This record gives sequence, C-alpha cells and structure tokens, in this order.
Amino acid sequence: MPQDKEREPRTNGSAGKSAVQRPKGTRDFIPVEMEKRRWLETRLRTTAGLFGFREVATPAFEHVELFTMRSGQGIIEDMYDFRDKGGRHLALRPELTAPTMRLYIEGLLGEPKPLKLFYFGNCFRYEQPQKGRYREFWQFGAEILGAKRVPGEVELLALADACLKASGLKRYILRIGHVGVLRKLLEDSGVPAERQAPLMPLIDKKDHEALGVSLDALGADKAHVMDVLGSSGGPEVLAKVPGSGLEDVLDGLASAGVEGYVIEPGIARGLDYYTGMVFEADVPDLGAEKQVLGGGTYALSELFGAESIESTGFAIGFDRVLVALEAQGAAIPPAKLDFYIIPMGPSERKMALAALAALRKAGLSADIDMADRSLSKALKYASSSGASRAIIIGENEIRTGTLSVKDLATGEQRAARLEELVRT
Ligand code: HAM
Repeated sequence: MPQDKEREPRTNGSAGKSAVQRPKGTRDFIPVEMEKRRWLETRLRTTAGLFGFREVATPAFEHVELFTMRSGQGIIEDMYDFRDKGGRHLALRPELTAPTMRLYIEGLLGEPKPLKLFYFGNCFRYEQPQKGRYREFWQFGAEILGAKRVPGEVELLALADACLKASGLKRYILRIGHVGVLRKLLEDSGVPAERQAPLMPLIDKKDHEALGVSLDALGADKAHVMDVLGSSGGPEVLAKVPGSGLEDVLDGLASAGVEGYVIEPGIARGLDYYTGMVFEADVPDLGAEKQVLGGGTYALSELFGAESIESTGFAIGFDRVLVALEAQGAAIPPAKLDFYIIPMGPSERKMALAALAALRKAGLSADIDMADRSLSKALKYASSSGASRAIIIGENEIRTGTLSVKDLATGEQRAARLEELVRT
C-alpha cells in the first residue's frame, strides 16, 4: 500500500508549510485505498453479524480517567490528552474496550445478557510511527459481556478466528495464554504481586534479557520462569500452567472447528485489565509490527463502579491486516462501475443524461464523460476508472435510438437498447 513512506509528507521546518500537511503518524486515504478499507470493513462486519454481534459506537474522546484507571503504563504514556475550553481533562481514545464498558454501564446495564457487541473506530496513540504503527489507527473489535466464562471465551475466539479468515489472510498464528496463571507463576517463583507490574511489559515484548536481570535482582526462580515463558505448542503445554481452566475452552474450540492455534503461557498483553485467558494473532509475513489482533478476559466493570460482569473481548488492528494482505499478495477486488457513458458531442448529451438517469434509477452504477474529449481518450479514462462497459452515443445512436455498448475488458462492441441494459 503506498500509504506509508511514499506519501509521508516531508517537513522542511517552515511553520507555514507544516500547517497544511497532515500530522505525523496520520494518513489520508485515496479512493483506491478507501475501496480496500471498505471491502475489509464489510467482511468483518458481515462476520460479526453472522455470529449475532451488534454494533456500538462511542465518542472519539473520553474523560482521561476512563483510560488511566486500568489501562497500563504503556497506554497512558502514549495517550493524547488535553484540557478542553471548560477545563475538562480529556483524552483521545487509545482503545475501545474501556469506552465500550462505560457505554454498557451508562446505557445497557438492564439489558438481557449476554451482550455481544462489536465496534469499528479510530484510536490514537502517540507512538513512533512506522509501517503498521500509526498515531491514528483503526480497530475492529468485539466484546462479550455477561456470558459464562467457557462458552463466552469459545464464542469470542471463534469470532476472532472467523474474522481473520474472512479478511483473506493466508497465514496467521493464533496464540492463546492465561495472564492469571502467568501472574501466579511469577508469584510462586518469588515475585510478589506488587512487584510484577514492571515485569509484564518485558514479558510482553519478549525482552528476556532485561527480564532475567529483573528476576535475578528479585531473587526469583529465573530458570523456572524462563522455561515456562519459552514454551509454546499444543494443548500439552497446559501441563506447565496448571489452573488455567483452558482445557474446556480448547474442547469447545475443537467442536467449533477452530484449529491451528498454539498455547503460549508467556502472553502478557500490553494492557493491565486482563485477568484470565489472553490471546494474540501474528502474521509472520510482517516485520516488527506483526501482531494483528489482541484480546482476552478482563475485569473493568467493578473499577467503573458497577457490579462485576464476565467480560471477554478482542480488537483487530485493521490497518495491520491491510498491510499483511498486501504482504501476502492478496487481491482485494477494486470497486467496479457498471457503465461509463460517452456522448460524442453537445447534441448527444441530452440522450446520454437520460440514459445515465435510467441506469442509476435501475440500481446500476454509471458515470458520464464530462471532459468533451476524443473517443479514444474518453475510453482510456473509462478503463482506468474501473468501468466494465462504455456506452458510446453519437449521431448514429441518436438516429437509431440504440446505444453502442463496448465491453472494456474484451473490446467487443454491440448495439443495445436502453431497456435491455436496465434489465441486466
Ligand atoms: P491492543 O493489543 O493494544 O489491544 O490493540 C489491538 C490491536 O490494535 C493490536 O494487536 C494491533 O494490531 C493494533 N494496534 C495497536 N496499536 C497500533 C498502532 N499504533 N498502529 C496500528 N495498529 C495498532 C487493545 O486495544 C484491547 N482493547 C483489545 C481488547 C478488546 N481486549 C479486550 N477487548
């Protein structure tokens, strides 16, 4: 996708110039990119709909505390926060789980459970931009609130897998772990709960060198921790992390036809609200920013003053999936225009406009040449704009009351009546 380096504006230090350039880490999307984005969005929405999830939307900014209460230091450091003119301390949302939980408490508390919600929206994090990492990016995510743990986690993992499949990704790895068991492992190995927070980002980033130094400093059983963190494989790995309760979830996944995942006890996640099962998906074709999805079971409602509710969810890094599809050579079908009408001169425009209106009324997409140019130039433009067929209207067509229809893929041309085209 040419949206990264090629079109990244160069700042020359002049204040006047930078004011008309987009801010660092943000992107514009030209029509061909928007068509790909809408294609993916439609696939994800359709999949969520097939699973019985219903869409919610929340504001782009929230009170800062919504995120500072339990999102984790990493997210807080990256947050875009500001004071509005009324002095309120607000933040652009860095993610959509906390806002969805707030929405639930403010507007859906009394609804029958479980609630199966999905969202698609932009998020903001002040990160160092690179391919697949932006300051404004989009997440497509889902949350299940109020289901029993095992069926909820099975359904959520099944949706995550179905979304990745529906997006057309040929290769991805779904990794499942359990953050509660990971914390217990640290505790049993000599790292008390209150000393664990600084270790979690190191585990999350797989910075085992720095982690080793910290474990040594704490006098913890480094060998045991490293052994568990380094393991990854099939259900047999669960033996290393007793008490996760993931066996039942894996049984459910088998019945639901979800396979190909790996169990990885070393998944720590970058956010602090997770309490149980956690999972991520990576696309090996990508470099550093290969994680296209993250999620898990979490506790937020109590923190926001409501009763505790089983909550599990995930978010797909929408932009990263698009980068991955590009890297895997996936062909996203471009938007098609059914007809491009070319009137040969001003006197043919009347008939052309009538045909244009009739086609559009019949639900066919149609455009008209507005540049008064030669037929060959107009045909070239029609092909480049993705039209399937051109309709040429000249003196002859006016005289006979028919249209000349040219198939732009084969070059074949034939005469047709408008009524016939409208019926196709
Ligand atoms: P997260 O792992 O922070 O989780 O983000 C989810 C996904 O968003 C990541 O896996 C990644 O693909 C994408 N992402 C994150 N930061 C960026 C960025 N700067 N540029 C492009 N893509 C990015 C969450 O946000 C949780 N709220 C997920 C969740 C939902 N957990 C429970 N429910």
